[in-house]
Formats: sequence, C-alpha cells, structure tokens
Amino acid sequence: MLNWVNHLGNVAWERARMRTPEETAGGPRYVPALGYHFLTPLYDTVIALMTRESTWRKALIKQIAADQRDVVVDVGCGTGTLAVMLKRTSPYTTVYGIDPDPGVLGLAEIKARDKGVLVHFMQGYGAEVAERAASLRVTKVVSSLVLHQVPLDGKREILANMHAALKPGGEIHIADYGLQRSALMRLLFRQIQNLDGYRATQANAEGIVPVLMEEIGFDGVRENRVIATPTGSISLYSGRKAA
Ligand SMILES: C[S@@+](CC[C@H](N)C(=O)[O-])C[C@H]1O[C@@H](n2cnc3c(N)ncnc32)[C@H](O)[C@@H]1O
Repeated sequence: MLNWVNHLGNVAWERARMRTPEETAGGPRYVPALGYHFLTPLYDTVIALMTRESTWRKALIKQIAADQRDVVVDVGCGTGTLAVMLKRTSPYTTVYGIDPDPGVLGLAEIKARDKGVLVHFMQGYGAEVAERAASLRVTKVVSSLVLHQVPLDGKREILANMHAALKPGGEIHIADYGLQRSALMRLLFRQIQNLDGYRATQANAEGIVPVLMEEIGFDGVRENRVIATPTGSISLYSGRKAA
C-alpha cells in the first residue's frame, strides 16, 4: 500500500509539478520550496507545523555561532527565515541569502523588511555560489532543507561550491533530513519523498550528506544533532575548510 502511495507521489511529482516559464522554455530547473510553485505561499506555515522548526532552527543558529567578524551566505535561503533569524541574533554579522526562485526571494525581502534587518538576497543556484561570493570573504556557509531536494550530482556541486566560496578556515553548517535511523522516521520521511521526489531524497535518508562533505574536502565533519520531527529526522552537520 505504502509503495503504491509512494509510486503515485513520484508520478505526480514528475508529471504535475508546476513549472516556471523559464523551466518550460528549457531553462534552469529547481524544485520549488514546497514541491510546487502554487504551494509557496503556504511554505512558512507548513514548515512550522511539520518540522519542529523552532527547535532545529534555534539549534542551527547556536551551532553557527555568528559574530561581528562573520560574513555568512545562506544557500537556498527560501523565504529567508534562517537568514533573518541569523541577522537578528547577531546584528553585526553580514548576511547574504541566495536562491534560484524569485518567488521565495520576494517573500524573503518582505520578511527582512518587516523584521527591520538588512539581509542581502540574490537570485542564483547553489552551483553559482563560489562565483557570486568570490569577493565577499565568506567565513561561514549555511544551508537548510535544500540538499534533500537536489539530485546527487547537484548535492555534490552545491557542497563543492560552498567549499570554494569559503575563506581558508571557514565553516559549513547544514540542517537537513539526514540518515533516517528508525522504521518510524523512514515512514514519516515518505511524506517528504512524495513531495520532493524519491531519487534525490533517498540519498539523504541513507546518510549521504556527511559522506559528500568529506569527499569534497571539508575537515572535521560532524553530525551534531539529530532531531526527530513529524516528517522524519533532521540532522545538523558542520565541517571546516582547511586553514
Ligand atoms: C525546502 S526550501 C528551504 C528554504 C530555506 N532554506 C529554509 O530553511 O526554509 C528549499 C529551497 O532550495 C531552493 N533550491 C532548490 N534547488 C536549488 C539549488 N540547486 N541551489 C540553490 N537553491 C536551490 C529552492 O528554491 C527552495 O527555496
């Protein structure tokens, strides 16, 4: 039964995912924040309800431990929740957010303005981060809930770009669905797989993220926390670029 539901989810994802005009024209592709563009306005509400958001975001902000010397880039920043939280927690940190979807960036701009903080948002893919951030002297790169949506080659490309974007000694901090250690977590994670597609998400569920981080050259890769949520467990990872 579950396999059948899963199959229907995959078919629906492949066939019915709404596309931007640029995608329809054969241009760049990405999975929208909630799987479909028409669901984007619901993104913040769904994440709050379905991921124990305040628990993992607060833990991630603590792990990032940004200070006034830091220049932080949030890759796949979506509606800007993490970037805005980061700036409010550490007002003298310079914060950038990058995302390919102009729709979520519009919501992110509004959020930053409403909270009275300056975050520099830019449109672009994770695979463009090194180029876009070349002159920024980035000390920390962060990303939340992005890699699970991206096919394996894309995960590798984004992580390699995050590594290249960093100054020597800089840090990477990631929160995403990771190794699903129990039958219950694997079952709950099917909800995300039905929304975002099976192939990209399954590699995360099998624990690929820290493996890729090490493969790309990050030192001291660690899984610092595993947080059980109603949609599977979210892991917090960190690593460092050699000084
Ligand atoms: C589930 S949302 C997460 C948003 C945000 N980081 C958060 O924590 O709420 C995933 C985001 O990744 C973006 N995304 C998808 N593919 C991407 C890629 N190849 N490079 C960068 N961002 C990407 C999507 O546009 C979307 O905003």
